[in-house]
Amino acid sequence: MGGVGPVFLFPRSDVPIAVDWIGLVKMRNVIILGSQWGDEGKGKIVDLFAERFDIVARYQGGHNAGHTVFIGEKKFVLKLIPSGILRPGKKAVIGNGLVIDPAALLSEIDTLQAAGVPVTSNLFISNRAHVLFPEHRMMEKMSEGREGRISIGTTSRGIGPCYEDKIARRGIRVADLLNTEFFRAQYDSIMEEKVVIAKALGIYSEIDLRAIREEYEAFAERIRPMVCDTAALLNQAIRDGKTVMFEGAQGTMLDIDHGTYPFVTSSSASAGGACTGTGVAPTRIQGVLGVSKAYITRVGGGPFPTEAFDGAGDRIRERGKEFGAVTGRPRRCGWFDVPLLRYTANINGFDSLVITKLDVLDEFDTIPVCVGYKINGKDVVDMPPTVAEIEKLEAVYECVPGWSSSTFGISKYDELPSKAKDYIAFLENRTGVEVGCVSTGPERNQTIVRAGSRFEELIG
Ligand code: GDP
Ligand code: IMO
Ligand code: MG
Repeated sequence: MGGVGPVFLFPRSDVPIAVDWIGLVKMRNVIILGSQWGDEGKGKIVDLFAERFDIVARYQGGHNAGHTVFIGEKKFVLKLIPSGILRPGKKAVIGNGLVIDPAALLSEIDTLQAAGVPVTSNLFISNRAHVLFPEHRMMEKMSEGREGRISIGTTSRGIGPCYEDKIARRGIRVADLLNTEFFRAQYDSIMEEKVVIAKALGIYSEIDLRAIREEYEAFAERIRPMVCDTAALLNQAIRDGKTVMFEGAQGTMLDIDHGTYPFVTSSSASAGGACTGTGVAPTRIQGVLGVSKAYITRVGGGPFPTEAFDGAGDRIRERGKEFGAVTGRPRRCGWFDVPLLRYTANINGFDSLVITKLDVLDEFDTIPVCVGYKINGKDVVDMPPTVAEIEKLEAVYECVPGWSSSTFGISKYDELPSKAKDYIAFLENRTGVEVGCVSTGPERNQTIVRAGSRFEELIG
């Protein structure tokens, strides 16, 4: 046998728990990620089930994410810090795949600590994550505003330019930031190059680079105690029999490779990103859970085959309070898209789906669901690769009867109206993926876990 890997004693579909070859340790490490264009309700789901895991690890993105968690009257919006931080005693990891704006991180830490959430003792920040600077925000502002350039409608946080520097191998990582002498020289040389480029492009504006550098040196001292090799920490924890939940940000349709490029974010939001973004191997991960709304939303530009323009979109936005958690922008709303979900299920290998915000559809007499695509009357089976083609897709709808009664807060599957159960069954049949969990409100207890589901098995 080559290398050290998990040995599955039984076929995976029968017994999901792998036994580690080295220590005969049971593993139950699970990825939870967005299956649409973000804002599916990942924060609520991760917070709720974090209780059953030892560690929650974010693997990509930055403070473009906004994960909302309600605990009673208290509302938390997590941006860089994993939603698991709200569970006392759980470890929260910011993996190497993230880009970190230290000012945003420290402000998030301060807000949480002021609300009584202990952060600094439970948070572990990867020494290999990349550092985001004000220059990245400025570059983004200039490129998004440039005439002739496609505007993506980004969150204006500088995420794209920071990942650009990472891939171009001129990024500054957390470990570099902590090495003051090295950081000073590295920062000055990188910024010198940026100034030359900005001047050549005629987009240079005066900026106090030295002041920014000194500010970052001060940030470094505050984050230093939380920084470590998080890949080593996670792998050791797994060897010790601890369980890890990987929390995705954004959604698969915003993934840099698999999303509606170029209307995407600059990181790997899909399941593969969990491995590269934390340094935990695929052989150590037992399941992937996709979070999806009972309908669909998108913030920013880009194609959206099932967008509802006829007033129904406004009704969904109003009932679902669909405004961005980070930017406050109104979210574009539309109907559940089966081919899109089948596409993202394929990319991620979903074991089970979580359907959130079922309650938002309570007052619709009928609910259109997109069951296929056509272009010029011809069926389109695979998700096209280009925006031009996706924009041409005509959604083919089937109307499913609504249930016209409240599902808000229901926590037992049997208590759902029968037509709501039919809607869930319709989604399961058409997507080919089990719906193992249903969310009926923003709070923890407004959630149904289906008995005997693969979801229940993985979540423990
Ligand atoms: P995330 O980015 O995927 O974590 O999602 P967001 O937090 O950006 O957006 C989801 C919003 O829906 C938040 O305001 C949640 O509090 C809310 N939410 C989550 N699940 C439900 C649900 O089942 N019903 C309702 N009505 N709201 C929900
Ligand atoms: P969560 O984790 C929804 C969108 C932006 C824009 C595109 C690129 O809360 O689901 P960026 O600033 O990342 O370069 O913007 O991606 N976007 C999100 N949309 N939810 C998010 O995060 C998002 N993060 C980025 O609106 O269209
Ligand atoms: Mg969000």
